[in-house]
Amino acid sequence: MHMVDLIQKKRRGGSLTQEEIHWMIRGYTRGEIPDYQVSALLMAICFQGMDPQETAQLTLAMAQSGASLDLSALPGAKGDKHSTGGVGDKTTLVVAPLAAACGLTMVKLSGRGLGHTGGTVDKLAAIPGFRTDLTVQELLKVASDTGLCLAGHTGNLAPADQKLYALRDVTGTVDSIPLIASSIMSKKLACGAQSILLDVKVGSGALMKTRQEALELAQTMVDIGRRCHRQVACLLTDMDIPLGFAVGNALEVQEAIDTLKGQGPRDVTELSLALTAHLLALAGFGTPKACLEQARQALLDGRGLAKLGQVIQAQGGDPAILTNPRRLPQAEHVLTVLSPITGYLTAMDTEGCGRTCMHLGAGRERKEDPIDLTAGLVFHVKPGDFVQRGEPVAQLFAQDPARLIPAREELLQALSWGDTPPRPQTLIHALVTQDGVQLQ
Ligand code: URA
Repeated sequence: MHMVDLIQKKRRGGSLTQEEIHWMIRGYTRGEIPDYQVSALLMAICFQGMDPQETAQLTLAMAQSGASLDLSALPGAKGDKHSTGGVGDKTTLVVAPLAAACGLTMVKLSGRGLGHTGGTVDKLAAIPGFRTDLTVQELLKVASDTGLCLAGHTGNLAPADQKLYALRDVTGTVDSIPLIASSIMSKKLACGAQSILLDVKVGSGALMKTRQEALELAQTMVDIGRRCHRQVACLLTDMDIPLGFAVGNALEVQEAIDTLKGQGPRDVTELSLALTAHLLALAGFGTPKACLEQARQALLDGRGLAKLGQVIQAQGGDPAILTNPRRLPQAEHVLTVLSPITGYLTAMDTEGCGRTCMHLGAGRERKEDPIDLTAGLVFHVKPGDFVQRGEPVAQLFAQDPARLIPAREELLQALSWGDTPPRPQTLIHALVTQDGVQLQ
């Protein structure tokens, strides 16, 4: 086979065969096919797309490009969850313990944050002592002992995706539904769970800015799951405003703990319960309604919080953070942002809010940038709230005081004000399963 033939075929709108796709991914992973040829193919895919069969084969080829986790020795049903990323999304820290407390074994591997979106591994790094760099043996042992493991991606899972993602990032080819879907799903397939619940975010702080794009991504990933014999469903959920009040690593850990104590923000609680319920339902624990009741019980009676404590202990962290928030890293400098006008907060540019946090030190502009685990912000108001001029709208946190004033200006730019309240935001737009789309 010749790479140039594959590029020309795709450029003219043809479909690549299973053999061609696996040959290309194998050759690229081994370094036998150069970046410039793969870049050309990626650009052709951006223009011509891929059919469902090609997309599933690309996913499988990437999933099989390195190691995969064998979860068969773990007891019971195995579940996994993934969010396409947003601002203030700490639901993994709530959903994974709740689902495990209900009896689903969860091995949840996560990534680091990049740009305006956060990553679960960074949030976990804010828990003193907590280890996310587990070997495969260690993570299977933790999952077998506690029913839950929260770790970073181990080195050799879907290495083709790591190479391709880095190349897409610098060749303007991130923005393609088959490439995004295969990238996400290749990692999920390699992680080994049978039941996978995806949270596809839509709105000003999400990768997918419109419902149409988000729906297409969700349907593509559900179809990949069907073709690869996994149970996959997606919730399409709002990212037009940040989730909860806290954004930033240690701050979000605290909000997740509050949620598991039944004292979290309404949106974080509602979304976490819905995600847990649909994940449990996918794994055969009952109807979504019955599973919602199981999830709610695990929250109310504290089993979810206890499960988080167990996994923190098992992975070397300090479980005392559950009762004493001061044990989480604390920012040395805090600035209160005051409302510039009297009126309703009508909208938030959520990507702008995420960028504010990144500039405070909570996130990375480039992969190798260090982060400040204490940095971030806590909103005092959300769209629909009425404030008087001079009332607090948010608090900014950072170790570096020089970052606070520019961040305040950036945050104020991201907020819109008006004389009338906006229409209330829908939190969950739709459920996408192998049977179709249900508007929620
Ligand atoms: N997340 C991924 O893992 N891959 C993409 O291509 C986009 C978001």
